[in-house]
Amino acid sequence: AASKIIVVGSMNMDLVTSTNRIPAVGETVIGDAFHTTPGGKGANQAMAAARLGAEVTMVGAVGDDAFGEAAMNNLKQQGIGTDAIRIVEGCSTGIAAITVSDGDNSIIVVPGANHSITPAVIEAQEEVLKNSDMLLVQLEIPLDSVIRAVQLAKKHNIRTILNPAPIQPLPMELLEMVDYLTPNEHEQTLLFASTDGSVKQLERLKEKCIVTKGSKGVMLYQNGEEILIPGVEVEAVDTTGAGDSFNGALAFALCQGKSVEEACRFANVVGAISVTKFGAQAGMPTMEEVEGFLRTLNVRNAK
Ligand code: RIB
Ligand code: NA
Repeated sequence: AASKIIVVGSMNMDLVTSTNRIPAVGETVIGDAFHTTPGGKGANQAMAAARLGAEVTMVGAVGDDAFGEAAMNNLKQQGIGTDAIRIVEGCSTGIAAITVSDGDNSIIVVPGANHSITPAVIEAQEEVLKNSDMLLVQLEIPLDSVIRAVQLAKKHNIRTILNPAPIQPLPMELLEMVDYLTPNEHEQTLLFASTDGSVKQLERLKEKCIVTKGSKGVMLYQNGEEILIPGVEVEAVDTTGAGDSFNGALAFALCQGKSVEEACRFANVVGAISVTKFGAQAGMPTMEEVEGFLRTLNVRNAK
């Protein structure tokens, strides 16, 4: 069955410097390389799901500059629906200044056109949303718009995944509406530290959490019990976008009717494969690549 996923979120151009050491404050270091590659948590998640075979529509915005054109074409080439992406005149496309060192990264995002995704923009896409199987949202666009998207999804009985990244305090109203929350460990800690609610509410919230723990794997909570899905061992080249690969794959697998645990196992593998290549999107696998990876993994484990 087709898995129709609507992603409401950011589109950025990633300006990536590679260095063997991240400079301290006031210090200058000579880097090894510079790359410009499409990113943004929204676009990355859309790409991850589309590579696996999902039918994806992106709701987002870019500026009327070269970065925006490249970001838009990148999605088009993967067959992602771009009719709901606005080109905002006189505005710059969102960018992320990323430093990659030793497989780790640090990121500064300047949202630019992503800020122009208003609740009204979301409302205009109600028909598309209504015809989707899953809504996938993150926090690189205005919070009001995230809330509006989730409200509309709820209205039409569409399941929702909220990837709370970058983390910020979130209203309980929003958290109660979403079906799945996918923080990393750090985001989970801050999420619970900044959310007021009754014991019951917080307990419900925890049960919705699927926590990505990098190379340690994924943790989920079912009926008060923790289920740890161990990480898959790979050689990490660039972890940028690993969480996005996980989220896109999770959305796809849930649409395919997998149980939450099975979907997490699948997404865990997709996230691991994605870090073996440089760039947020380059390592995102097709279904064939996932199957090939699992075959070699089984062969290795059997030895
Ligand atoms: O999650 C990774 C993404 O975060 C990068 O592609 C960058 O654009 C930032 O939004
Ligand atoms: Na990667």
